[in-house]
Amino acid sequence: MQMARARVLILAGMPVETVSSARRRDVLQAGLLAGLVAALPRALRAADRAAPLITKAIPATGEKIPVMGVGTNHFGRTPYEDVRSILKRMYELGGTVIDTAAMYGDSEVQIGKALTELGLTQKMFIATKLNAPGGFGGIGGRESFERSMQRLQKVDLLFIHFVDSVEPMMPLVTELKKQGRVRYIGITSIRTPEYPQLLEQMRKYPIDFLQVNYSLGDRSAEAEVLPLAQERRIAVMAAVPLGGGRNLLISQVGDRALPAWAADFGIASWGQFFLKYVVSHPAITCAIPGSSKLEHLEDNQAAGHGRLPDAATRRKMEELWAGKA
Ligand SMILES: NC(=O)c1ccc[n+]([C@@H]2O[C@H](COP(=O)([O-])OP(=O)(O)OC[C@H]3O[C@@H](n4cnc5c(N)ncnc54)[C@H](OP(=O)(O)O)[C@@H]3O)[C@@H](O)[C@H]2O)c1
Repeated sequence: MQMARARVLILAGMPVETVSSARRRDVLQAGLLAGLVAALPRALRAADRAAPLITKAIPATGEKIPVMGVGTNHFGRTPYEDVRSILKRMYELGGTVIDTAAMYGDSEVQIGKALTELGLTQKMFIATKLNAPGGFGGIGGRESFERSMQRLQKVDLLFIHFVDSVEPMMPLVTELKKQGRVRYIGITSIRTPEYPQLLEQMRKYPIDFLQVNYSLGDRSAEAEVLPLAQERRIAVMAAVPLGGGRNLLISQVGDRALPAWAADFGIASWGQFFLKYVVSHPAITCAIPGSSKLEHLEDNQAAGHGRLPDAATRRKMEELWAGKA
């Protein structure tokens, strides 16, 4: 089976770790690798032969972030030790972007605890989402934000969760940004029928980020949302980049082998194929594949290194997915 072979390649070859000297120093200072003399070589030996970390700039400020992060909507029900290992490993591999939400059960609680223990809170780029009052879980508005802050200790990017909450919540997120309590604000919308409303909001409000679904299985944002994001210099975080648990793109390829040309872009698994497609779109700033298993996190982080497919290769990927190649 191709999938099994690909996984072995990833774990053995690990085309990952391109952490800079400064980053390595940070990790060491944080005490993360103290006493891990035996384990250290796995991360750092790979650093010397790895493909470079891919970053993209947030248009509003020029700040660069790694293109591959982690989505955490299952972290509330993932064993704490696994959450801790995943976040630690992601940082070792160069990843810093974490997406969570006030409504993801105990996800924020587990992330906040792990980052504090690991000494990584200030190193990570943490995005969370605000509930509207009366919304999910009975907590909303300012109370929702204060609870997220208390759980996470730091929020870099605050999304308004869903377009219907944008009107009532925009004054609050704008105020929080003005006060310097968050650095970026944004809107999330994962339903195509909401896009007309989202487009209006993108024109009306000075937002820094959007979060929309984007994958080879759902390219609906390409028509209008992504072009408008580029025009208005709004960063885009791609949600559900692997098609999501029920429609997982990887499970749809069966045992089909990767095309030979995928290796030119350092693609060693179908997961990396789908993720490199997502983050190679010029409007996409980063992707947040949900990864509650360490092996998935490592596979996905590898897609944040090396070369990205060019426009011609993206077309080949689309044709392959459409069954035309
Ligand atoms: N704004 C919104 O309203 C909204 C809505 C939905 C999602 N999101 C965000 O988007 C993130 C991603 O969405 P998602 O998790 O639903 O979909 P996804 O990232 O497309 O897919 C996640 C699924 O893929 C599996 N997986 C991950 N990497 C894999 C790999 N390399 N090989 C094989 N399987 C792999 C995961 O398994 P394991 O978990 O077992 O590793 C999980 O079942 C969420 O975590 C959340 O942060 C936002």
